[in-house]
Amino acid sequence: MSSKDSTKRTLIVAFSLCVVCSIVVSGTAVILKPMQDANRILDRNKNILSAAGLFDPQQDGDESVAERFSQFSTYVIDLNEQQVLGNEQLTQLQIDIDSYDQRLVINDPNYSEALERQEDVANIKRRVIYPMIYVVEEEEQIETIVVPISGYGLWGILYGFLALEGDANTVKGLAFYELKETPGLGAEVRNPRWTALWPGKKIYDEAGEVGLRVIKGQGTGDYQIDGLSGATLTSRGVDNLIQYWLGDDAYGPILAQLRETGL
Ligand SMILES: Cc1cc2nc3c(=O)[nH]c(=O)nc-3n(C[C@H](O)[C@H](O)[C@H](O)COP(=O)(O)O)c2cc1C
Repeated sequence: MSSKDSTKRTLIVAFSLCVVCSIVVSGTAVILKPMQDANRILDRNKNILSAAGLFDPQQDGDESVAERFSQFSTYVIDLNEQQVLGNEQLTQLQIDIDSYDQRLVINDPNYSEALERQEDVANIKRRVIYPMIYVVEEEEQIETIVVPISGYGLWGILYGFLALEGDANTVKGLAFYELKETPGLGAEVRNPRWTALWPGKKIYDEAGEVGLRVIKGQGTGDYQIDGLSGATLTSRGVDNLIQYWLGDDAYGPILAQLRETGL
């Protein structure tokens, strides 16, 4: 065996290679992190704008997102205390509104909680305690409120945003940005022809309960949306998530507060 093939040399080469590779990999991860964060936020903002009918992914370019989104103010709310969090509370909770991602803390017991079976109408198992909401105000009047929504369909959890008018009752639009449903069946919740059925519908009935339903067949009036044919289970999932997120256990009381007293 030549000295080049010695065990010691082999180990040194292998070790050096490992060190160099790990430096390259971790260095790249560190360098790319700000870009990934920026992309994540760009994507989120695009989805919020889409729900509010202010962005069409087929026509509008990414460069217009920042300007369009600048009309929105972002707030973090506390679903258990039913209040909008102020700066002091955000600092206490170590939430930096610019980098906070409520989806990344879904398993962190400081920021999210398990749901009891009977209250888990949307079948999501856990929910974030401090979701973000996005509001457009004009001359101190609320114009638009966008809230994140999620719920189990047939194959997995659907994630999206629901936009409401300033009355915190009339639907402005709905956009799902992530789902596992079947293309052509459940994934039709993203079909513009189906999402076009939503604007103008009302969430709350005269008793203040969530009256909006996704029904099997053709919906009529202010409170019904046609279920998707061939995708009854996904449609039921959307119905469930509306009942849950707009109901008393989630955004219901905060929305009532916004309607009555503003921000
Ligand atoms: C391969 C496959 C994929 C399916 N994907 C979905 C789906 O994404 N969403 C859904 O609601 N139903 C889906 N279904 C259909 C459901 O099993 C069920 O038949 C349907 O929801 C009933 O809807 P209908 O009463 O409108 O016909 C799928 C069925 C098959 C065989």
